[in-house]
Amino acid sequence: MQSRVHEIRREFDRDLAGARDPEALERVRARYLGRRAGLLTGLLRDLREVPSAGRAAFGKAVNDLKAHVEEALEAAQARLVPGSAREAPIDLTLPGRVQRPGASHPITQVSALIEEIFLEMGYTLESGPQVETDFYNFEALNIPAHHPARDMQDTFYVEGGLLLRTHTSPVQIRTMQKRRPPVRMVALGRVFRRDSDITHSPVFHQVEGLVVAEGITFAHLKGTLAHFCRKVFGKGIRIRLRPSYFPFVEPGAEYDISCIFCGGSGCSRCKGTGYIEMGGAGMVHPAVFEKVGYDPELFTGFAFGLGIERIAMLKHGIDDIRLFFENDLRFLSQFPG
Ligand code: DAH
Repeated sequence: MQSRVHEIRREFDRDLAGARDPEALERVRARYLGRRAGLLTGLLRDLREVPSAGRAAFGKAVNDLKAHVEEALEAAQARLVPGSAREAPIDLTLPGRVQRPGASHPITQVSALIEEIFLEMGYTLESGPQVETDFYNFEALNIPAHHPARDMQDTFYVEGGLLLRTHTSPVQIRTMQKRRPPVRMVALGRVFRRDSDITHSPVFHQVEGLVVAEGITFAHLKGTLAHFCRKVFGKGIRIRLRPSYFPFVEPGAEYDISCIFCGGSGCSRCKGTGYIEMGGAGMVHPAVFEKVGYDPELFTGFAFGLGIERIAMLKHGIDDIRLFFENDLRFLSQFPG
């Protein structure tokens, strides 16, 4: 029986080699694969009569031959019948594949703007670790254990007595420890709090600013903040400072900008007040200077902090902070740049 398979294979190869046009090819196809009289079809039918001992081997031989026949017919078809090659059809009406250029994240864009404004004024860029010690995040900032101000910032604690920094203020301490005045620095970076809703995210970004030298006053602070806010939101912006409390500054303040939506006359975005809250600031507390070995009799300084998402939200009219962290391209692609 096996020899019959070989014989048919040789015959097929010969017949196919002799087929010079599509019609001849069709005749070869019918002779071997024809549903009723095809030679191969016949072989498969014979399978039933083969004694069971040799049936598997015979079946395999027939199948191999069938694969050979089909493949060779297809190749011959591609050669003899123009346009029949089995390639994916090309649909000329399909739109092209667009390569869209990438862009930096809106938070990265706003960060770059903030850095530029302060670098222009001669500030240095500083950074510190996101996993901090209690000393840098609280103690050195005049927030001792059990101080009620610790409740203002719900903290993520990690192993080994460490914590995820709740603000960028620890970078003030690290910078003062390694440098003598005059100091003029900003630090931008990630901070973490156990807080999550439409305007609070457990991870967000802050800018911290610190200036220390002889003769620094509250007027320098106000001038700096006004300059910064105008650079970010436009020349017409006014700023306002309100007394507030942060343990590491005295006096402490919160600062607002005139509402960028209504110009200060009062609207729903500023809840009718004409102002929008920006961040905290104040004159560096003498207790902080003592922690880093600066003489509070000789030096004064101001510090300020603010949230980067907040600026981006105001600038772009975004009302949900979580959009910055979901990485949905439909959102992100609206900020080319
Ligand atoms: N660290 C404060 C916070 O995250 C913000 C802040 C307030 C920073 C006053 C300052 C400052 O430098 O002087 O809530």
